[in-house]
Amino acid sequence: MNVQTTRAEVIERLTHSGQRGVLRFLTCGSVDDGKSTLIGRLLYDSKLLFEDQINVLEKDSRKHGTTGDEIDFALLLDGLEAEREQGITIDVAYRFFATEKRKFVVADTPGHEQYTRNMATGASTADAAVMMIDARKGVLVQTLRHTYIARMMGIRHIVLAVNKMDLADHSRGRFHEIVAEYLKSADDLGFETITPIPMSARYGDNVTRRSEAMAWYDGPTLIEYLEDLDIDTEIQNEPFRMPVQWVNRPNLNFRGYSGTIVSGTIRPGDAIVVAHSGVGANVDRIVSADGDLEQAVAGDAVTLVLNHEIDVSRGDVLAAADARPEVTDQFAAEVLWMSGEDLLPGRSYLLKIGTATTPATVSALKHRIDVNTYEKKPSRKLEMNGIGMCNVSTARPIAFDPYQSIRDMGAFILVDRFSNQTVGAGMIEFGLRRASNIHQHAMDVTKDARSVIKGQKPAILWFTGLSGAGKSTVANAVERKLAAAGHHTYSLDGDNIRHGLNRDLGFTDVDRVENIRRIGEVGRLFVDAGLLVTCSFISPFRSERQMVRELVEDGEFIEVFVDAPIEVCIQRDPKGLYKKAQAGEIKNFTGFDSPYERPENAEIHIDTTTVSAEEAADQVIAKLREMGRLG
Ligand code: ADX
Repeated sequence: MNVQTTRAEVIERLTHSGQRGVLRFLTCGSVDDGKSTLIGRLLYDSKLLFEDQINVLEKDSRKHGTTGDEIDFALLLDGLEAEREQGITIDVAYRFFATEKRKFVVADTPGHEQYTRNMATGASTADAAVMMIDARKGVLVQTLRHTYIARMMGIRHIVLAVNKMDLADHSRGRFHEIVAEYLKSADDLGFETITPIPMSARYGDNVTRRSEAMAWYDGPTLIEYLEDLDIDTEIQNEPFRMPVQWVNRPNLNFRGYSGTIVSGTIRPGDAIVVAHSGVGANVDRIVSADGDLEQAVAGDAVTLVLNHEIDVSRGDVLAAADARPEVTDQFAAEVLWMSGEDLLPGRSYLLKIGTATTPATVSALKHRIDVNTYEKKPSRKLEMNGIGMCNVSTARPIAFDPYQSIRDMGAFILVDRFSNQTVGAGMIEFGLRRASNIHQHAMDVTKDARSVIKGQKPAILWFTGLSGAGKSTVANAVERKLAAAGHHTYSLDGDNIRHGLNRDLGFTDVDRVENIRRIGEVGRLFVDAGLLVTCSFISPFRSERQMVRELVEDGEFIEVFVDAPIEVCIQRDPKGLYKKAQAGEIKNFTGFDSPYERPENAEIHIDTTTVSAEEAADQVIAKLREMGRLG
């Protein structure tokens, strides 16, 4: 076999081969299963390596290889890694090769540590997954885990690559045993095809050439299978969807909507709607970098000019008028958690879907999924690499299609609002109908009317700080002074609320988030009632304090940081709880084994070691007056 290919030939092949569209696939398994060898073999046999790479490979194999005089294909990948480190040619996770029939992109997802995240990333754009199995070891827990993630990420075609058949006597019986074992679990996951292939990647058996040693196998070789897999037209036949990236308006004579089509096909004359508003128009022109088009399909970046002006902005989705996406603010989704900080239901994250961004919370974690056994397990939070079925609630409605129908319309990420890190990835399964059946009822007596009668502007005075810092004492003094001046007040206090409304909650992070979420909602109702409401809660997390702030209007949330060093709080110990915490009798005590995140932009900061409760209360009231809340 002549593998000495010139650079020009390679480029020629990459630009011209492939009657069929590009096939993207993913290999799953560990290096021990022969993953690197398989990828190396595919690259090598497809003759797409540059001469210099081949020369290095042959030399290295003789030097370090584990395969005698033959070429060690695993070294090839190592070689490419090294090249990558020097910043030369190869993309981090994706490798390209081509045969006469087709071009391929293979996502290689190394790393055991962050396997879920890596694999999910590779799988999210893949059409097929090759599950590598060592014929001697059979189906492992990791095989089932990888299979689950592949299914979750919308992969429809699985190749069960039973590798190292040479070390299992090329045994037909062993092969069938492994296939049966795999199908027992994977059959229920709903893949379109599962294609088992017995192979020996090291020798190329049933990878790129038919195996003589396994003449009993009459299915396709891996490369035949990959060349023939039909995925080309699937996404183009789905309904038209284009999330709008920006409104292109260079002058008064031109107005177009730019974005990348994520599914379907569009032609001039087609009827489209803005998913959110349902307002429709017809496509007049499809403008692209290559001039006007007669047709554009999924994957194309275009600017659509419509036959009349409609209200469209970034984040909207343009969709086929006769097959619209759903629009909802509550949906069920499978969420993959990727952060070291747990996912806590009730916490507010930023959700990004298509070109839209909105605050969102997981309103319920229905169960966690054990990816090793496919069991559903009850859980109150998700840890790193955890997968859970969640109900998600968004601040603004989003347009979506189920992920399993149109990936780009059902995939979202969750971003931490403070660190800006991506912390989760989600796949929408279905909208929750209850969302569309509940509407806000407009009342005749409004918040404004109520506050005019009371001669004040309502507000939440949010006292946060350690236990024993003096929150309740200061809040109490504030309320007394306000009431004495004829104002209408109410007070919500940690210890009291935990006897009633929140008696079901403890002090885990999850419970504290839910505690504050409920208080926030109650606080908002009191604001709506026109009251000045004091809230005294440790409220240790910035995220939840921010969430309450966003529940009400600007100026209606006033954060008061009641600050005292923990040593002072321990000394005060008004309820004897610090003593208990020190003795280990109370767990998750704030300041000990549960964190307190200090406010960064509190409206008022009170140091209770230097200021008395009365003085502190006067400061708060002065602030209220300054903000015009006291009428
Ligand atoms: S929060 O963290 O969820 O905001 P919250 O303010 O409602 O807490 O309740 C705190 C009060 O509960 C404390 O003042 C204290 O009296 C009591 N408490 C009991 N156990 C704990 C604990 N583990 N951590 C903090 N406070 C506790």
